[in-house]
Amino acid sequence: MKQFSKEFIFGTATSSYQIEGAAAEGGRTPSIWDTFSKTPGKISDGSTGDIACDHYHRTEEDIELIKSLGVDSYRFSIAWSRIFPTEGTYNPEGMAFYKKLAIQLREEGIEPCVTIYHWDMPQWADEKGGWVNRESVNWFMEFAKKCFEELDEYVSKWITHNEPWCAALLGYHTGEHAPGHTNLEEAVKTSHHLLLSHGLAVQYYKGEFGGTGEIGITLNLSPVYAASDSVNDRLAANNHDGYLNRWFLDPIFKAQYPTDMLNLYSKYVHSFDFIQEGDLEIISQPMDFFGINFYSRALIEFSAASDLLYKQAYSDYAKTGMGWDISPREFKDLIYRLREEYTSLPIYITENGAAFDDVLEDDGQVHDKARVDYLEKHLLSVAELNEENMNIAGYYVWSLLDNFEWAFGYDKRFGIVYVDFDNQKRYVKDSAKRFKEIVQERSL
Ligand code: FCB
Repeated sequence: MKQFSKEFIFGTATSSYQIEGAAAEGGRTPSIWDTFSKTPGKISDGSTGDIACDHYHRTEEDIELIKSLGVDSYRFSIAWSRIFPTEGTYNPEGMAFYKKLAIQLREEGIEPCVTIYHWDMPQWADEKGGWVNRESVNWFMEFAKKCFEELDEYVSKWITHNEPWCAALLGYHTGEHAPGHTNLEEAVKTSHHLLLSHGLAVQYYKGEFGGTGEIGITLNLSPVYAASDSVNDRLAANNHDGYLNRWFLDPIFKAQYPTDMLNLYSKYVHSFDFIQEGDLEIISQPMDFFGINFYSRALIEFSAASDLLYKQAYSDYAKTGMGWDISPREFKDLIYRLREEYTSLPIYITENGAAFDDVLEDDGQVHDKARVDYLEKHLLSVAELNEENMNIAGYYVWSLLDNFEWAFGYDKRFGIVYVDFDNQKRYVKDSAKRFKEIVQERSL
């Protein structure tokens, strides 16, 4: 039996566009995800987040659900276009929604953990060049400052950005996410501006603002393995590691971009002048914690046909409903590497979970055994890591609810609570019951 300490934080996570709905209420204007999801062909089931889980109107019910799990914390994000529906115009009504949510959570003894940016840039900002424009850093700071001013009293943990790799590379390189561009140069610039805005927010929060909570960033990281020992495959794995992991880890923890990746990107990026003097010092501001979203390992092989000389290799591992390798052992490798090469900060697993094809039984039960297994295995790894003093300070299940899974729409269910999108009814899955038990017993 493995134990979790009294201080260990258990939580669940969501994000604004994926659950809120009420897309045109409370003064909210469209974000890049409203525009993208309404563009034919972008979302596999043709859906949008217009209604999503209707969380905006069902907050009380959802807080009850969170409470019933017995978790210590709830992670949610703030829809920027509720707070600044147009450039420079603050919308108190938008903020009131989050303030009420944070206060209610506090009253229930649940710590709010707030992600400032979970991918839903206002459309007005995109129309001025989006994250490719360095001005975006100022727009973000105006937004972040308002969030600190209005919510810091109730919020114990702030996450500046969720997965800047997805926002930059899926948004501007592969085009799978909003705003759907396919230009590596734009993606690299975007990643820099996201990181710069992170650094400035941390600097402001801990300095001039004097925030009382903790602040950090969340990266999506995967340990990368070469499909074989060949020089080609090892080169390929190194490139993918650079693209996914080191391009973000190195500036944050070492105040530099990896030279091999600058070389590789230089074929597509005309100039790196957008990295201005002093930027890397700002990006590497000391934080209070480091957040990781972990889903899977990556197995990589050489591909001469691809821009960056690699592709995903065939893997015989058991997979989740996303086709992702179930890899709790490799999750431990990732943490060992971070401890060795990057940081001794407390680490929060700010997302971990899995999509499977759930079946809602006639009696309202969802026997999601595969998800129960997935969560247990990863929590076991966390407990084992902590026995080795790896200082994992908390774990948030992705996700509280089935929700709008970006380019997959409502086809992929990650929730520990099932949502019937025809009538918005919530059903507690077996995984939620098991998670509740683990949280209660603080052991598994
Ligand atoms: C992460 C995102 C989150 C969710 C999960 C499945 O990349 O942060 O919003 O979509 O994947």
